[in-house]
Amino acid sequence: MEFISIEEAMKKGSGKVAVRGWVHRERGSNELKFLVIRDSSDIIQCVLKKAQFKKQWADIDKLQVEASVELEGTVKEDKRAPTGYEISVDKINIVGLSDSFPINKDINEELLGDRRHLWLRSRKMTAILKIRSTVIGALHEYFNEKGFYEFQSPILIPGGAEDGPTMFEVNYFDRKMYLAQTWQLYAEAAMYSLEKIYCVAPSFRAEKSKTTRHLTEYWHTEMEVAWTNLPELMEYAEEMTKHVIKRVLEKNKKELEIIGRDWKKLEPSLKKKFPRVTYDSVLKVLKEKKKMSVPWGKDLRTIEEDKFMEDHDTPVFVTNYPKEIMAFYKPRDPDSPKTALGFDMLGPEENHELIGGSVRDTNLDELKKSLKAKGEKLEDYSYYFDIHSYGAVPHGGFGLGTERLIKWICGLETIKDAIGFPRTMTRWKP
Ligand code: 4AD
Ligand code: MG
Repeated sequence: MEFISIEEAMKKGSGKVAVRGWVHRERGSNELKFLVIRDSSDIIQCVLKKAQFKKQWADIDKLQVEASVELEGTVKEDKRAPTGYEISVDKINIVGLSDSFPINKDINEELLGDRRHLWLRSRKMTAILKIRSTVIGALHEYFNEKGFYEFQSPILIPGGAEDGPTMFEVNYFDRKMYLAQTWQLYAEAAMYSLEKIYCVAPSFRAEKSKTTRHLTEYWHTEMEVAWTNLPELMEYAEEMTKHVIKRVLEKNKKELEIIGRDWKKLEPSLKKKFPRVTYDSVLKVLKEKKKMSVPWGKDLRTIEEDKFMEDHDTPVFVTNYPKEIMAFYKPRDPDSPKTALGFDMLGPEENHELIGGSVRDTNLDELKKSLKAKGEKLEDYSYYFDIHSYGAVPHGGFGLGTERLIKWICGLETIKDAIGFPRTMTRWKP
């Protein structure tokens, strides 16, 4: 018989089926063995009667969690079974035996992290990884539909990116190189060729932050576009976010339910326009409504973002942060010269900064002044000055922390669960 997935077997609902997978749960009595079998599609209860398997019973009786098996039998509805169906088995082929599986419900977070290579088989991680696959697929789909080209930038860079102290150093033959924190500065070069570009690729940050939203290696979804302005960039960011949520709700309601995510909380973000507010107005709300006073010029702290976002059920764009605390490439807003033409898109439900973006400064004098103020060496940026010396155009882009979006969509407690094998300061294996 041809094997079908467990999901297909349940859809069929009756008659003969052949499925294969791994033992998710097992219990037995003298007469019966119940195996809940999982494959990538779902789980199903299977029952084997001793009377039917006289020769094989000793082996069947010893089957442990995660042993792999091939089964043939008759599927039928059974309200008592975990997913509402049961296969009454008439043929079993034991493919791979399993040792006693070192994961159970009493195991702590740290050990689960050490055994991540096995924990990926859990229903929770399987569901999250499926949603992650939808999210990344939807990001590519969005940019392709909008006429963007996919452009790849180097991961090994000679230095001169955004923020020296958070870069990983690499021994590169007889010199030091760094792992890229962003594709942006190379993307700006390619923007002059392709005009609309994007990528979904790893970025690296040697951040010592032990928070629920920092990884040292994360998948950065970035875009760069010519002839643009701040409102248009925010339109792209909003449309992209909505597109991803729409696809997840179309494809992954079952997975959201498995992980216990109340997906109704995502619906406002599909239906409503995301508010656009300035940094100044956030300070005002914090002062008047939340009794928190932030001195002008200071970046918003986690607790201040949380307080501000309490009143919102969709992401919010905060624009016009003070120029001095922003990356060197964000230009002054001519209408508000102490502030920069950039935005952060903050997520609801305590998800903080999901996206950071801006228009790019093409005024070489301003760029040099900002770099000097940040203590950077101008010679590291000579190629960057070069690209804007031949027909500069207004352009800009943004970067999305893909795992931060997945964390929000899935309602996860920590960003670590938004990726198969997380890397943080303290979690670097397996
Ligand atoms: O705000 P950031 O630093 O902006 C840039 O790197 C720009 N060059 C992007 C661009 O305009 N092309 O990073 C962008 C996003 C943040 O909003 C955040 O969501 C995510 O990257 N991010 C992280 N995600 C996980 N772990 C970390 N340590 C992150 N650091 C930033
Ligand atoms: Mg940022």
